[in-house]
Amino acid sequence: MSNFYYPKKEMFKDPQFSSMDEYRAVVEDFNEDYEGTWAQLANAKIDWFKPFTKILNEDEAPFYKWFEDGELNVAYQCIDRHLKDKKNKAAIIFEGDNGDQEVITYRELAYKVSQTANMFKDNFNIKKGDRVVIYMPMIPQAAIVMLACAKIGAIHSVVFGGFSAEALRDRIIDASAKLVVTADGAFRKGKPYMLKPVVDEALKVGCESVQKVCVIERNNEDIHWEPNRDYSYNELIKSQSSFCKSEHMNAEDPLFLLYTSGSTGKPKGVQHSSAGYILWAQLTMEWVFDIKDNDTFWCTADVGWITGHTYIVYGPLAAGATTVMFEGVPTFPDAGRCWKMVEEYRINQFYTAPTAIRLLHKMGANEPKKYDLSSLRILGTVGEPIDPPAWKWYYEVVGNSNCSIVDTYWQTETGGHMISPLPAATPIKPACATFALPGIEAKVIETDGTLTPTGEKGFMCITKPWPSMIRTIWNDPERFKKSYFGDCKVNGKPVYFTGDGAMVDEDGYITITGRTDDVINVSGHRMGTAEVEAAIKKHDNVAAVAVVGKPHDIKGEGIFAYVVLKSDDGIADELEIIKEINTMIKTEIGAIALCDDVAFVPDLPKTRSGKIMRRILRSIAKNEPITQDISTLEDPTIVAKIEAIINS
Ligand code: WT7
Repeated sequence: MSNFYYPKKEMFKDPQFSSMDEYRAVVEDFNEDYEGTWAQLANAKIDWFKPFTKILNEDEAPFYKWFEDGELNVAYQCIDRHLKDKKNKAAIIFEGDNGDQEVITYRELAYKVSQTANMFKDNFNIKKGDRVVIYMPMIPQAAIVMLACAKIGAIHSVVFGGFSAEALRDRIIDASAKLVVTADGAFRKGKPYMLKPVVDEALKVGCESVQKVCVIERNNEDIHWEPNRDYSYNELIKSQSSFCKSEHMNAEDPLFLLYTSGSTGKPKGVQHSSAGYILWAQLTMEWVFDIKDNDTFWCTADVGWITGHTYIVYGPLAAGATTVMFEGVPTFPDAGRCWKMVEEYRINQFYTAPTAIRLLHKMGANEPKKYDLSSLRILGTVGEPIDPPAWKWYYEVVGNSNCSIVDTYWQTETGGHMISPLPAATPIKPACATFALPGIEAKVIETDGTLTPTGEKGFMCITKPWPSMIRTIWNDPERFKKSYFGDCKVNGKPVYFTGDGAMVDEDGYITITGRTDDVINVSGHRMGTAEVEAAIKKHDNVAAVAVVGKPHDIKGEGIFAYVVLKSDDGIADELEIIKEINTMIKTEIGAIALCDDVAFVPDLPKTRSGKIMRRILRSIAKNEPITQDISTLEDPTIVAKIEAIINS
């Protein structure tokens, strides 16, 4: 039993789950009456404009519908309903890169969101169902704009600010967005950086659907203003009324799209619903983060990712909590920045990615000790498997061995946490996501639905529909079915496959072992190898390319590209080509996809039917012995040739 860490009971007051028995009791409720238990929670947690009478509709599975005849508004759920008893409570605490602070109360947030919503209607003619692309830095307006969309029923699609013009353009076109909301730029590490020029570049080709661009002036650097297209948010907001009616939305109306990587070159527009999504965002705040009225919650993610959507904006606000938003980076001005902020704001829950933990550990192992971190109760991690040394440092040094660590496993598609410890109940094992949350039927199975034996790797599946699940892939329902419901079946019925492998141990604990597809995880960012390959292939001198992940100390996985050139003119050129390839990647995707290693090889290991054997390339990149049968390759000698190049 020595590898269990037990929650410190004295750290918690009235937690939702204070023991595993309480956890099992709720699991039992779901077992006895799955739909009824969900319905009870949905009735208790959501302020419905019109109550639902239907719970789950499976007629068009896997296009499931939850609470389909209910009506609500997610912005109302997150803001307006709190005005009764929390109007002067801090909703958002913002800290700028330079340390500037701004507190926005629920009342102020209500006004700003309404003004913005009115602006969208009056100035930009945005209507229910229109798509709005948000390309923004980490400033409160990002949340305000998202909520303004929700208020009037527009569907937002936030594109991470690190994506390139090409990547932004693809997402604008796929969603046929009517409006793009951006900022001139913002600040990072003490310097201004720009976003608006990227939007200008993106809109040059093929974005006919875009009528207007709304620009928030944040860093006040010079930008180009396109006449009759670009408008200043800061100007327009001045004349807008601070009251706007919350549109009555159907439970199943899409709340947002969020593009994520799959195994092909084209990103998928993951579509989320209104009621199911917000219900789970709020519930997991209460269950996993034990959010209490006086808490200050800080999730360090970017709003451009699902973690930012669910645990900076929607979850905390639906729960009526105080959420911290930070413009800067954890290492500026030094590796103590986060700990200084924890001390200053008396943060109670701190939620970040393993990559940040590893970096902060490496840069300042003793840094946390310089600050008073005693307000912390829960430390969260998300996005990739956390390694035991990083876990231990987080637990012992940051948490002073008092805090519960919640290793939360989930995905863009799941909307919120799927597998996670309950902080006051679950005995935790380092680097283990532990158990499925109540209501979530997470199983490690074989493709035919049989349970994978204890201690062996199987497929991580969710075998029952749940309210916050992805509804479809925007514009591509067939791909939705194929991507998620094509691989695994239980009793002949397709079930949701996450794309991850997992293992259940002798205590029933679930550990995630990583992706089973061609998706890699770089610093907690999900990246399709096919996307990176497509970018590299655009280089004139590249004949073929295969990209794989390779373990990386800080990033978790790094990007390793095997490149076959059309003509090989010696090493000087190769260095030049690496530079050009990385420029290509920056243009096509963004700096997050830059290669850590590029190896020039004479050919790729291919089967006789032409399929590239990425598994062999992964083993070579990791310096692992090759266990696969290579005799079936078109040219078996290529493996030794590639190994010789990598080892030279
Ligand atoms: C993929 C989803 C969910 C928000 C951030 C990433 C990996 C996520 C964990 C964890 C091990 C994890 C999985 C998953 N992942 N959380 N706690 N332990 N792996 O969202 O970009 O949709 O990526 O991240 O591989 O499939 P995403």
